[in-house]
Amino acid sequence: MAIRPVLRMGDARLLRRAEPVSGFGSEELRALLADMRDTMQALNGAGLAAPQIGVNLRVVIFGVQKNPRYPDAEEVPETVLINPAIMVLEETIKDDWEGCLSLPGLRGLVPRFQNIRYQGYDEQGALIDRTVSGFHARVVQHECDHLDGILYPMRIRDITKFGYTEELFPGQALQDE
Ligand code: NI
Repeated sequence: MAIRPVLRMGDARLLRRAEPVSGFGSEELRALLADMRDTMQALNGAGLAAPQIGVNLRVVIFGVQKNPRYPDAEEVPETVLINPAIMVLEETIKDDWEGCLSLPGLRGLVPRFQNIRYQGYDEQGALIDRTVSGFHARVVQHECDHLDGILYPMRIRDITKFGYTEELFPGQALQDE
């Protein structure tokens, strides 16, 4: 287990389409997930995708627990999601602020679908199938975008709504994804 360096925007490895995982329960996958968890926890992130640590596989982790530092954050279950697929349930889109561990210190206002169903597999290969909304849906869309080489600034509609967290939200502690 190890805390791995997180690639930052500008690194071409963040722009690749990641490859599906073909085998579950392997030592390689177990080690990757251990490193991803260590890295996300060390940086206090809400989510992390394997490409962010330079591993070009369709693996994401995410989860937000209730934390007095983030009183407005909705809880999201700790999840390992492999080879995910997202189905948009209806067309409602909402803008909200996002940060990303690959763009430290920055935030942007990003449109996302409000209601989605997502499927994928956990590390043992068991199917995950959830219908979610709001912040949970946003986090999943953000992480899965990483698997297709998409970083949140590419989705910002009004680029004036993109800037440094300390200027936009002075004094607030906010999590990145
Ligand atoms: Ni991110």
